[in-house]
Amino acid sequence: MEYVEEVKLSNEWNFVNSVGKKGIHKLFQYPGTMVPDMLNKIIDTYLEPSDRTVLDPFMGSGTVLFETVKNGKQAIGIDINPYACFGAKVKSRFYSEKTLLEYFNEINNNLQKKKEAIKLHTFPFVEKWYTSNNIQELSRIRNEVIKIKSIKYRNFYLLCLAEVAGKVSNSRKSTFKLHIQAKEDIEKSQFNTVEMFLNVCLSSIKLIINDAKFDYHKNVKVVNENTVTLNKKRSPFLGKEVDAIITSPPYGDNHTTITYGQYSYLRYSWIGIENLETTELLANDMIKISGIDSNSAGGRLYSVNDIENSATINISSILKERYYKLKGESLKNARKVLSFYMDLYQSLNNVMSLLKDDGLCIFIVGDRYVSGEIIPFKDILLELISGMNMIPMDCIPRKIVGSYMAGSIKQEHIVVLRKTMES
Ligand SMILES: C[S@@+](CC[C@H](N)C(=O)[O-])C[C@H]1O[C@@H](n2cnc3c(N)ncnc32)[C@H](O)[C@@H]1O
Repeated sequence: MEYVEEVKLSNEWNFVNSVGKKGIHKLFQYPGTMVPDMLNKIIDTYLEPSDRTVLDPFMGSGTVLFETVKNGKQAIGIDINPYACFGAKVKSRFYSEKTLLEYFNEINNNLQKKKEAIKLHTFPFVEKWYTSNNIQELSRIRNEVIKIKSIKYRNFYLLCLAEVAGKVSNSRKSTFKLHIQAKEDIEKSQFNTVEMFLNVCLSSIKLIINDAKFDYHKNVKVVNENTVTLNKKRSPFLGKEVDAIITSPPYGDNHTTITYGQYSYLRYSWIGIENLETTELLANDMIKISGIDSNSAGGRLYSVNDIENSATINISSILKERYYKLKGESLKNARKVLSFYMDLYQSLNNVMSLLKDDGLCIFIVGDRYVSGEIIPFKDILLELISGMNMIPMDCIPRKIVGSYMAGSIKQEHIVVLRKTMES
């Protein structure tokens, strides 16, 4: 492995005062989002004016995409989670303020009218996660939103509904996992769901209109794909090489701490899986609460035989050492860690092939602990890319300030690599 000097030990990358979502990024909440100010600094510091297209292969809510476009470039985002893709697409469309307000007034007028009997929206476990009053109110709102004929405007209001559905559910708000609240807490919580929805709509309209000048609709492409099994043929946007990759991959704890799929389950269930434009395979799995997490990197465990004979364990001496140590204590934990990095290795091979020669690749990764053992993501990453014609340029440690990354992740590294001409 090549030695990478940690050049910038100061805290200028911590962005202590930048925690919390801003601007267009407030349109929908998502776990583990990047700090936009940090991204702007990354773009300023490392990208050249000639770097036109940036790819984020684990885009989540799309922070990289929208900051990239604000900086005058084009962006492509890939994510396996159809809810993340739905949200990012809604964020990237061009809307007329007049039409948005017309639909808003129509929905508002109808919601203020006398309540009529409607067919309640349903999905697996809806009664566990919502009080009967909230099912009634959310169904009433949904009933009005799905009357909108234009898919673009309907999706905008479905995303507003999903935001509210997340806020009024019976799940605890202190974790990304679905975790039911105590009965007395559920009974105590009173929501004016319709009022909340109307407020979310109005603030979302403001956010979208404020950013209309950036022409996201011309410059952002969103692809709902699995980077582990990336199918370039199915996605025309992935046919051309990109100038840079900027991304924060998952940490490998999608079943435990940062459960992107579980977080999204209630939200997309109110949107309706049929409105998400996803693959048949994922649509079937999305009916299960952990369906997306099982399909994500590290979501399925490889056999001991596959792990011990994998390229991944043979390339990374750190992973090999951690695996055999963990195996002595918990075979399952050892398999979880390796299964995640085997998927990541496959993803890296796939996405690096989309990067032009001489292109920059910037990863934001964090260490985590498994059974008390540190799993040093950046060191493992540097080992995994060793045969991919990538040269390490910079490695910047930064503290994670605030609680956006739950659990044991307290420090991240910004790892900057450059692709060399193939030898
Ligand atoms: C750390 S989050 C990215 C957050 C993003 N930077 C933001 O600001 O919102 C990692 C993302 O990787 C996605 N992901 C996990 N496994 C994936 C896979 N195999 N293919 C594509 N995306 C995947 C998750 O759904 C999640 O949205």
